[in-house]
Amino acid sequence: IDTDKDKEFLDEQLHKVANLLKAGKTVVFPTETVYGLGANALDPEAAKKIYEAKGRPSDNPLIVHISKKEDVDFLAGNISQDSKLLMEDFWPGPLTLILDKSDSVPIETTGGLMTVAIRMPSNPIARKLIDLAGVPIAAPSANISGRPSITSSKYLVEELCERVDAIIISEDSEIGLESTVVDMTASTPVILRPGKIGKTEIEKILNKEIELDPSLKDENAAPKSPGMKYKHYSPNATVIVVTGSLDEMKQKINQKLSLDKNIGDKVKVVCLEDRVSLYDGYGISWGKSSQEAAKNLFKILRLMDEQNIEVVYFEALNSDEISEAVMNRLIKAAGNMIL
Ligand code: TXA
Ligand code: MG
Repeated sequence: IDTDKDKEFLDEQLHKVANLLKAGKTVVFPTETVYGLGANALDPEAAKKIYEAKGRPSDNPLIVHISKKEDVDFLAGNISQDSKLLMEDFWPGPLTLILDKSDSVPIETTGGLMTVAIRMPSNPIARKLIDLAGVPIAAPSANISGRPSITSSKYLVEELCERVDAIIISEDSEIGLESTVVDMTASTPVILRPGKIGKTEIEKILNKEIELDPSLKDENAAPKSPGMKYKHYSPNATVIVVTGSLDEMKQKINQKLSLDKNIGDKVKVVCLEDRVSLYDGYGISWGKSSQEAAKNLFKILRLMDEQNIEVVYFEALNSDEISEAVMNRLIKAAGNMIL
Protein backbone atom coordinates (compact mmCIF):
# COMPACT_ATOMS: atom_id res chain seq x y z
CA ILE A 1 0.00 0.00 0.00
CA ASP A 2 1.91 3.06 -1.24
CA THR A 3 -0.48 5.74 -2.41
CA ASP A 4 -3.77 7.26 -1.27
CA LYS A 5 -5.37 5.52 -4.19
CA ASP A 6 -4.11 2.14 -2.94
CA LYS A 7 -5.49 2.96 0.48
CA GLU A 8 -8.86 3.83 -0.97
CA PHE A 9 -8.94 0.59 -2.94
CA LEU A 10 -8.00 -1.47 0.12
CA ASP A 11 -10.72 0.25 2.15
CA GLU A 12 -13.30 -0.46 -0.50
CA GLN A 13 -12.32 -4.12 -0.69
CA LEU A 14 -12.28 -4.51 3.08
CA HIS A 15 -15.79 -3.02 3.28
CA LYS A 16 -17.00 -5.57 0.75
CA VAL A 17 -15.42 -8.46 2.60
CA ALA A 18 -16.72 -7.19 5.96
CA ASN A 19 -20.22 -7.18 4.46
CA LEU A 20 -19.78 -10.82 3.55
CA LEU A 21 -18.88 -11.56 7.19
CA LYS A 22 -21.97 -9.65 8.35
CA ALA A 23 -24.04 -11.82 6.02
CA GLY A 24 -22.75 -15.02 7.65
CA LYS A 25 -20.19 -15.92 4.97
CA THR A 26 -16.62 -17.23 5.31
CA VAL A 27 -13.51 -15.14 4.62
CA VAL A 28 -9.80 -15.99 4.66
CA PHE A 29 -7.72 -13.13 6.10
CA PRO A 30 -4.13 -12.47 7.14
CA THR A 31 -2.97 -12.36 10.76
CA GLU A 32 0.55 -11.96 12.16
CA THR A 33 0.67 -15.67 13.06
CA VAL A 34 -0.92 -17.62 10.17
CA TYR A 35 -3.82 -16.93 7.79
CA GLY A 36 -7.25 -17.45 9.39
CA LEU A 37 -10.52 -18.79 7.97
CA GLY A 38 -13.12 -16.56 9.59
CA ALA A 39 -16.84 -16.12 10.05
CA ASN A 40 -19.15 -14.34 12.52
CA ALA A 41 -18.40 -15.93 15.91
CA LEU A 42 -21.88 -15.11 17.23
CA ASP A 43 -23.74 -16.88 14.42
CA PRO A 44 -23.98 -20.67 14.88
CA GLU A 45 -24.69 -21.24 11.17
CA ALA A 46 -21.61 -19.23 10.19
CA ALA A 47 -19.48 -21.22 12.65
CA LYS A 48 -20.74 -24.45 11.09
CA LYS A 49 -19.57 -23.20 7.69
CA ILE A 50 -16.02 -22.90 9.05
CA TYR A 51 -16.01 -26.55 10.16
CA GLU A 52 -17.37 -27.57 6.78
CA ALA A 53 -14.85 -25.51 4.80
CA LYS A 54 -11.92 -26.96 6.75
CA GLY A 55 -13.28 -30.48 7.05
CA ARG A 56 -12.69 -30.02 10.76
CA PRO A 57 -14.21 -32.20 13.51
CA SER A 58 -16.97 -30.19 15.21
CA ASP A 59 -15.61 -30.81 18.74
CA ASN A 60 -12.48 -28.80 17.96
CA PRO A 61 -13.22 -25.25 19.20
CA LEU A 62 -12.48 -22.03 17.30
CA ILE A 63 -10.53 -18.96 18.41
CA VAL A 64 -12.63 -15.79 18.58
CA HIS A 65 -10.79 -12.72 17.23
CA ILE A 66 -11.57 -9.22 18.48
CA SER A 67 -10.35 -5.77 17.42
CA LYS A 68 -10.61 -3.95 20.77
CA LYS A 69 -9.68 -5.16 24.24
CA GLU A 70 -13.07 -4.08 25.64
CA ASP A 71 -14.83 -6.63 23.43
CA VAL A 72 -13.64 -9.39 25.71
CA ASP A 73 -16.19 -8.38 28.38
CA PHE A 74 -19.09 -9.24 26.11
CA LEU A 75 -17.66 -12.67 25.24
CA ALA A 76 -16.25 -13.90 28.56
CA GLY A 77 -16.97 -13.83 32.28
CA ASN A 78 -14.93 -14.25 35.50
CA ILE A 79 -11.94 -12.49 33.98
CA SER A 80 -9.09 -12.78 36.49
CA GLN A 81 -6.47 -10.20 37.35
CA ASP A 82 -3.88 -12.45 35.70
CA SER A 83 -5.88 -12.47 32.46
CA LYS A 84 -6.10 -8.70 32.53
CA LEU A 85 -2.34 -8.40 32.99
CA LEU A 86 -1.71 -10.66 30.00
CA MET A 87 -4.16 -8.75 27.80
CA GLU A 88 -2.56 -5.49 28.85
CA ASP A 89 0.89 -6.71 27.93
CA PHE A 90 0.46 -9.03 24.97
CA TRP A 91 -2.64 -7.77 23.11
CA PRO A 92 -2.73 -7.05 20.27
CA GLY A 93 -0.47 -10.02 19.53
CA PRO A 94 -0.01 -13.78 19.24
CA LEU A 95 -1.59 -14.80 22.56
CA THR A 96 -4.92 -16.63 22.92
CA LEU A 97 -6.61 -16.83 26.32
CA ILE A 98 -9.11 -19.51 27.31
CA LEU A 99 -11.80 -17.92 29.50
CA ASP A 100 -15.29 -18.82 30.75
CA LYS A 101 -17.67 -18.07 27.92
CA SER A 102 -20.61 -15.70 28.21
CA ASP A 103 -24.09 -16.54 26.94
CA SER A 104 -23.39 -14.48 23.81
CA VAL A 105 -21.01 -17.10 22.42
CA PRO A 106 -22.81 -20.07 20.82
CA ILE A 107 -21.50 -23.56 21.61
CA GLU A 108 -21.11 -24.15 17.88
CA THR A 109 -18.16 -21.73 18.09
CA THR A 110 -16.63 -23.36 21.17
CA GLY A 111 -17.03 -26.95 20.02
CA GLY A 112 -19.52 -27.59 22.82
CA LEU A 113 -17.25 -26.23 25.58
CA MET A 114 -18.32 -23.70 28.23
CA THR A 115 -15.02 -21.88 27.73
CA VAL A 116 -14.00 -19.64 24.84
CA ALA A 117 -10.62 -18.92 23.23
CA ILE A 118 -10.07 -15.20 22.57
CA ARG A 119 -7.32 -13.34 20.78
CA MET A 120 -6.75 -9.79 19.54
CA PRO A 121 -4.49 -9.97 16.48
CA SER A 122 -1.92 -7.26 15.75
CA ASN A 123 -2.16 -7.48 11.96
CA PRO A 124 -3.78 -4.20 10.85
CA ILE A 125 -5.84 -5.76 8.04
CA ALA A 126 -7.23 -8.35 10.44
CA ARG A 127 -8.16 -5.68 12.98
CA LYS A 128 -9.71 -3.37 10.42
CA LEU A 129 -11.76 -6.23 9.00
CA ILE A 130 -13.08 -7.25 12.44
CA ASP A 131 -13.86 -3.61 13.15
CA LEU A 132 -15.78 -3.15 9.92
CA ALA A 133 -17.65 -6.43 10.36
CA GLY A 134 -18.80 -5.16 13.76
CA VAL A 135 -18.80 -8.67 15.22
CA PRO A 136 -16.09 -10.91 16.68
CA ILE A 137 -14.66 -13.30 14.10
CA ALA A 138 -14.17 -17.00 14.82
CA ALA A 139 -11.16 -18.24 12.89
CA PRO A 140 -9.06 -21.36 12.91
CA SER A 141 -5.94 -21.52 10.77
CA ALA A 142 -6.85 -21.31 7.07
CA ASN A 143 -5.97 -24.78 5.84
CA ILE A 144 -7.76 -28.03 5.20
CA SER A 145 -7.88 -29.90 8.51
CA GLY A 146 -4.69 -31.95 9.01
CA ARG A 147 -2.63 -30.01 6.44
CA PRO A 148 0.13 -27.53 7.38
CA SER A 149 -1.13 -24.05 8.33
CA ILE A 150 -0.80 -21.43 5.59
CA THR A 151 1.60 -18.50 6.05
CA SER A 152 2.09 -17.53 2.40
CA SER A 153 -0.72 -16.34 0.14
CA LYS A 154 0.64 -18.53 -2.63
CA TYR A 155 -1.05 -21.60 -1.15
CA LEU A 156 -4.39 -20.02 -0.20
CA VAL A 157 -6.17 -20.00 -3.52
CA GLU A 158 -5.48 -23.57 -4.62
CA GLU A 159 -6.38 -24.98 -1.20
CA LEU A 160 -9.41 -22.86 -0.29
CA CYS A 161 -10.93 -21.03 -3.26
CA GLU A 162 -13.74 -23.54 -3.72
CA ARG A 163 -14.41 -23.76 0.01
CA VAL A 164 -14.83 -20.11 1.15
CA ASP A 165 -16.64 -16.95 0.01
CA ALA A 166 -13.61 -14.61 -0.12
CA ILE A 167 -9.84 -14.67 0.29
CA ILE A 168 -7.73 -11.64 1.22
CA ILE A 169 -4.31 -12.04 -0.37
CA SER A 170 -1.64 -10.27 1.67
CA GLU A 171 1.97 -10.55 2.74
CA ASP A 172 3.61 -13.60 4.32
CA SER A 173 2.68 -14.00 7.99
CA GLU A 174 5.20 -12.21 10.14
CA ILE A 175 5.51 -14.84 12.88
CA GLY A 176 4.58 -18.00 11.01
CA LEU A 177 3.48 -20.10 14.02
CA GLU A 178 -0.01 -20.06 15.51
CA SER A 179 -0.60 -18.13 18.73
CA THR A 180 0.37 -19.34 22.19
CA VAL A 181 -2.81 -20.72 23.84
CA VAL A 182 -3.09 -20.29 27.62
CA ASP A 183 -5.92 -21.68 29.75
CA MET A 184 -6.83 -19.01 32.31
CA THR A 185 -9.80 -20.83 33.87
CA ALA A 186 -7.91 -22.29 36.87
CA SER A 187 -5.88 -20.34 39.46
CA THR A 188 -2.61 -21.38 37.78
CA PRO A 189 -2.53 -20.60 34.05
CA VAL A 190 -1.63 -23.53 31.77
CA ILE A 191 0.00 -23.30 28.33
CA LEU A 192 -1.98 -25.59 26.03
CA ARG A 193 -0.13 -24.71 22.83
CA PRO A 194 3.36 -23.16 22.72
CA GLY A 195 4.03 -20.19 20.44
CA LYS A 196 6.19 -17.12 20.02
CA ILE A 197 5.20 -15.80 23.45
CA GLY A 198 6.97 -18.24 25.76
CA LYS A 199 6.43 -19.50 29.32
CA THR A 200 9.22 -17.35 30.78
CA GLU A 201 7.83 -14.19 29.22
CA ILE A 202 4.35 -14.88 30.64
CA GLU A 203 5.76 -15.76 34.08
CA LYS A 204 7.63 -12.48 34.13
CA ILE A 205 4.45 -10.50 33.62
CA LEU A 206 2.43 -12.54 36.14
CA ASN A 207 5.28 -12.70 38.59
CA LYS A 208 4.59 -16.39 39.30
CA GLU A 209 5.18 -19.81 37.82
CA ILE A 210 2.68 -21.19 35.33
CA GLU A 211 2.25 -24.72 33.94
CA LEU A 212 2.69 -26.53 30.65
CA ASP A 213 -0.06 -28.95 29.63
CA PRO A 214 1.39 -32.43 30.43
CA SER A 215 0.87 -33.54 26.82
CA LEU A 216 3.54 -31.02 25.73
CA LYS A 217 6.13 -32.98 27.66
CA ASP A 218 4.77 -36.53 27.42
CA GLU A 219 3.34 -37.73 24.12
CA ASN A 220 1.18 -40.33 25.92
CA ALA A 221 -0.68 -37.77 28.05
CA ALA A 222 -4.07 -36.63 26.69
CA PRO A 223 -3.95 -32.96 25.66
CA LYS A 224 -6.43 -30.59 27.28
CA SER A 225 -6.82 -28.56 24.12
CA PRO A 226 -9.09 -30.54 21.78
CA GLY A 227 -7.16 -29.42 18.68
CA MET A 228 -3.87 -30.77 19.94
CA LYS A 229 -5.03 -34.40 19.75
CA TYR A 230 -5.67 -34.46 16.02
CA LYS A 231 -3.22 -35.39 13.28
CA HIS A 232 -1.68 -32.12 12.21
CA TYR A 233 0.53 -30.26 9.82
CA SER A 234 1.17 -33.30 7.68
CA PRO A 235 2.64 -32.80 4.22
CA ASN A 236 2.76 -35.70 1.74
CA ALA A 237 6.51 -36.08 2.23
CA THR A 238 7.84 -38.25 5.04
CA VAL A 239 9.23 -35.88 7.66
CA ILE A 240 11.99 -37.06 10.01
CA VAL A 241 13.26 -34.93 12.88
CA VAL A 242 16.91 -35.49 13.67
CA THR A 243 18.10 -34.73 17.20
CA GLY A 244 21.44 -34.62 19.03
CA SER A 245 24.46 -32.35 19.17
CA LEU A 246 25.42 -30.44 16.02
CA ASP A 247 27.98 -33.12 15.20
CA GLU A 248 25.62 -35.98 15.90
CA MET A 249 22.94 -34.51 13.64
CA LYS A 250 25.44 -34.08 10.83
CA GLN A 251 26.64 -37.68 11.19
CA LYS A 252 23.17 -39.22 11.44
CA ILE A 253 21.88 -37.32 8.40
CA ASN A 254 24.90 -37.98 6.21
CA GLN A 255 24.69 -41.66 7.05
CA LYS A 256 21.02 -41.69 5.97
CA LEU A 257 21.83 -39.74 2.81
CA SER A 258 24.37 -42.29 1.76
CA LEU A 259 21.69 -44.98 2.05
CA ASP A 260 18.95 -42.91 0.37
CA LYS A 261 21.06 -42.07 -2.71
CA ASN A 262 18.75 -44.06 -4.98
CA ILE A 263 15.99 -41.47 -4.59
CA GLY A 264 18.41 -38.68 -5.51
CA ASP A 265 16.63 -35.36 -5.77
CA LYS A 266 13.66 -36.64 -3.77
CA VAL A 267 15.48 -36.03 -0.47
CA LYS A 268 16.11 -32.76 1.35
CA VAL A 269 17.71 -31.70 4.61
CA VAL A 270 16.29 -28.60 6.27
CA CYS A 271 18.69 -26.80 8.61
CA LEU A 272 19.87 -23.35 9.66
CA GLU A 273 21.69 -21.44 6.94
CA ASP A 274 25.22 -21.94 8.27
CA ARG A 275 24.80 -25.75 8.08
CA VAL A 276 23.47 -26.12 4.53
CA SER A 277 26.92 -26.86 3.11
CA LEU A 278 27.27 -29.95 5.34
CA TYR A 279 24.77 -31.87 3.22
CA ASP A 280 26.24 -32.20 -0.24
CA GLY A 281 23.56 -30.41 -2.28
CA TYR A 282 20.65 -31.77 -0.24
CA GLY A 283 20.62 -29.01 2.35
CA ILE A 284 18.12 -26.16 2.29
CA SER A 285 17.93 -23.29 4.74
CA TRP A 286 14.89 -22.37 6.82
CA GLY A 287 16.65 -19.23 8.06
CA LYS A 288 19.55 -17.90 10.08
CA SER A 289 17.88 -18.20 13.48
CA SER A 290 15.10 -20.10 15.27
CA GLN A 291 12.91 -17.02 14.78
CA GLU A 292 13.36 -17.18 11.01
CA ALA A 293 12.87 -20.95 11.07
CA ALA A 294 9.53 -20.41 12.83
CA LYS A 295 8.48 -17.98 10.15
CA ASN A 296 9.42 -20.39 7.36
CA LEU A 297 8.36 -23.76 8.83
CA PHE A 298 4.91 -24.08 7.23
CA LYS A 299 6.10 -22.60 3.95
CA ILE A 300 8.90 -25.18 3.74
CA LEU A 301 6.55 -28.08 4.53
CA ARG A 302 4.35 -27.00 1.62
CA LEU A 303 7.34 -26.37 -0.65
CA MET A 304 8.46 -29.96 -0.10
CA ASP A 305 5.13 -31.19 -1.48
CA GLU A 306 5.30 -28.79 -4.39
CA GLN A 307 8.70 -30.22 -5.32
CA ASN A 308 7.48 -33.80 -4.83
CA ILE A 309 10.11 -34.42 -2.20
CA GLU A 310 9.64 -37.85 -0.63
CA VAL A 311 11.81 -37.67 2.47
CA VAL A 312 12.82 -34.57 4.39
CA TYR A 313 15.15 -34.53 7.38
CA PHE A 314 14.86 -31.55 9.72
CA GLU A 315 17.68 -30.69 12.10
CA ALA A 316 16.10 -30.18 15.53
CA LEU A 317 16.32 -26.73 17.12
CA ASN A 318 16.85 -26.34 20.84
CA SER A 319 18.30 -22.93 21.49
CA ASP A 320 15.31 -21.10 23.02
CA GLU A 321 11.57 -21.11 23.69
CA ILE A 322 10.59 -20.40 20.12
CA SER A 323 12.60 -23.51 19.18
CA GLU A 324 10.27 -25.49 21.45
CA ALA A 325 7.23 -24.06 19.68
CA VAL A 326 8.72 -24.97 16.29
CA MET A 327 9.55 -28.49 17.49
CA ASN A 328 6.01 -28.94 18.81
CA ARG A 329 4.67 -28.41 15.24
CA LEU A 330 7.47 -30.29 13.53
CA ILE A 331 7.17 -33.44 15.65
CA LYS A 332 3.46 -33.55 14.78
CA ALA A 333 4.27 -33.09 11.09
CA ALA A 334 6.74 -35.96 11.46
CA GLY A 335 4.11 -38.17 13.10
CA ASN A 336 6.66 -38.61 15.90
CA MET A 337 9.40 -39.94 13.59
CA ILE A 338 12.51 -38.89 15.46
CA LEU A 339 16.02 -40.01 14.66
O1 TXA B 1 -2.62 -17.89 15.64
C1 TXA B 1 -3.69 -18.48 15.75
O2 TXA B 1 -4.13 -18.82 16.84
C2 TXA B 1 -4.47 -18.78 14.46
C3 TXA B 1 -4.86 -17.44 13.82
C4 TXA B 1 -5.79 -17.60 12.66
O3 TXA B 1 -5.39 -16.60 14.79
N1 TXA B 1 -5.60 -19.61 14.73
C5 TXA B 1 -5.47 -20.94 15.05
O4 TXA B 1 -6.67 -21.59 15.24
O5 TXA B 1 -4.42 -21.49 15.17
P1 TXA B 1 -6.80 -23.19 15.31
O6 TXA B 1 -8.26 -23.42 15.29
O7 TXA B 1 -6.02 -23.81 14.22
O8 TXA B 1 -6.26 -23.57 16.70
C6 TXA B 1 -6.97 -23.25 17.88
C7 TXA B 1 -6.45 -24.05 19.04
C8 TXA B 1 -6.83 -25.50 18.92
O9 TXA B 1 -5.77 -26.30 19.39
C9 TXA B 1 -8.06 -25.57 19.81
O10 TXA B 1 -8.31 -26.85 20.30
C10 TXA B 1 -7.69 -24.60 20.92
O11 TXA B 1 -7.04 -23.55 20.25
N2 TXA B 1 -8.89 -24.08 21.60
C11 TXA B 1 -9.84 -23.26 21.11
N3 TXA B 1 -10.81 -23.05 22.01
C12 TXA B 1 -10.47 -23.75 23.12
C13 TXA B 1 -11.06 -23.93 24.40
N4 TXA B 1 -12.21 -23.36 24.72
N5 TXA B 1 -10.41 -24.73 25.30
C14 TXA B 1 -9.22 -25.30 24.97
N6 TXA B 1 -8.62 -25.16 23.77
C15 TXA B 1 -9.22 -24.40 22.86
MG1 MG C 1 -4.79 -25.16 12.97
